[in-house]
Amino acid sequence: MRPLTGFSGAGPGAGYRGGIIAICAVLLCGVEVTPAPSQPPPPPVALDRGEPITPIPSAPAVDPLKAALGEKLFGDRRMSHDNSRSCQYCHDIATNGASQKRHDVGLDGAEMALNSLTVFNSTLSFRFGWEGKFRTVEADISASLESPRTMGSSAVEIAAKLDADLDMRGRFMAAYGRRPEGDDVVDALANFQRTLLTPGSRFDRWLQGEETALSADELAGYRLFKSLGCSACHQGVNVGGNLYERHGIFHPLASPEPKILRVPSLRNVATTPPYFHDGSAPTLDDAVRKMAMAQLNATLTDQQAKVLVAFLNTLTGTYRGTPVGGSP
Ligand code: HEC
Ligand code: HEC
Repeated sequence: MRPLTGFSGAGPGAGYRGGIIAICAVLLCGVEVTPAPSQPPPPPVALDRGEPITPIPSAPAVDPLKAALGEKLFGDRRMSHDNSRSCQYCHDIATNGASQKRHDVGLDGAEMALNSLTVFNSTLSFRFGWEGKFRTVEADISASLESPRTMGSSAVEIAAKLDADLDMRGRFMAAYGRRPEGDDVVDALANFQRTLLTPGSRFDRWLQGEETALSADELAGYRLFKSLGCSACHQGVNVGGNLYERHGIFHPLASPEPKILRVPSLRNVATTPPYFHDGSAPTLDDAVRKMAMAQLNATLTDQQAKVLVAFLNTLTGTYRGTPVGGSP
């Protein structure tokens, strides 16, 4: 089976292509605009073992000034209307790109409806968010800025605040050749987001031909992952993130709403407890047993759960040379 890696409309460069199409629509093409054909999948990073999962590529080339500015903004509390929190508040890139909480707390002091997703590797998924509502990382970022419970602000409001800061104004001048504007705030955050890839997991090293990267138990776990049918939903470069599925197909899983979810990525999954959209599974062992029951009508033996968890533990990659997870 071919992994669906070429499926992503949100991958690196999507915004740029969108820009080209928009310019074309305005200037050149007149009445009829044919959308650009979807790009061919990137060439395989390494030897193709015919597996349903492909290795995380290294981060795409982005403008270093824009990405560095985006990283600064990611940790800047001015991203929220009342200057109380940055993106880092719920997405700690020094640990797992998310938080350790079941639900993070919104600006109004009440819990968010959904467990915070990790920002690592999200640009490799075909849509953004648990429900896959957003097609581009820019749309997802704008929604985070504007959501009254997340940031309660807007890119335009933030740009005005940053324009009053001479240091920030200088950084925008250097990266964009103009004073801060809303679109540039979103673009800088998006450029940074595209660099948040975590290659180098032991599983990827095995995919790339390093036979000793996995132990016998871990390999048995991967074989079981395929033979049970987990990989029918969790596959592609993100071991998920390329399909919509119902949850609770055979037995109820977690909170019934929302019914249809983007199958979550299992990249770095050992570092992101608790699990499921409502954060109801505290451990991987619990999540794996519930998954087998809810999605495949299978009751796992202790040994099966153990090797599946062992396999999932090999999906932890590295960010800036350090294993994802760190100390919480
Ligand atoms: C209060 C906590 C909180 C803050 C602050 C926050 N987020 Fe999030 N983030 C979440 C939650 C919860 C989700 C999942 C939302 C959903 O699926 O609807 C999410 C999802 C995302 C995703 C999608 C990940 C994926 O795999 O699809 C990205 C990208 C993201 N946030 C970026 C940001 C950026 C950039 C900021 C700062 C501007 C930010 N977030 C601020 C809680 C937060
Ligand atoms: C029919 C599709 C499907 C199959 C088959 C499937 N999953 Fe899932 N998986 C999902 C969906 C959808 C979710 C999100 C559920 C939720 O959040 O409520 C999920 C969530 C998970 C999570 C939690 C991820 C997180 O970050 O919260 C783990 C771990 C997981 N699955 C492992 C497995 C394993 C192991 C198998 C095989 C035993 C499996 N899945 C089979 C669709 C599937």
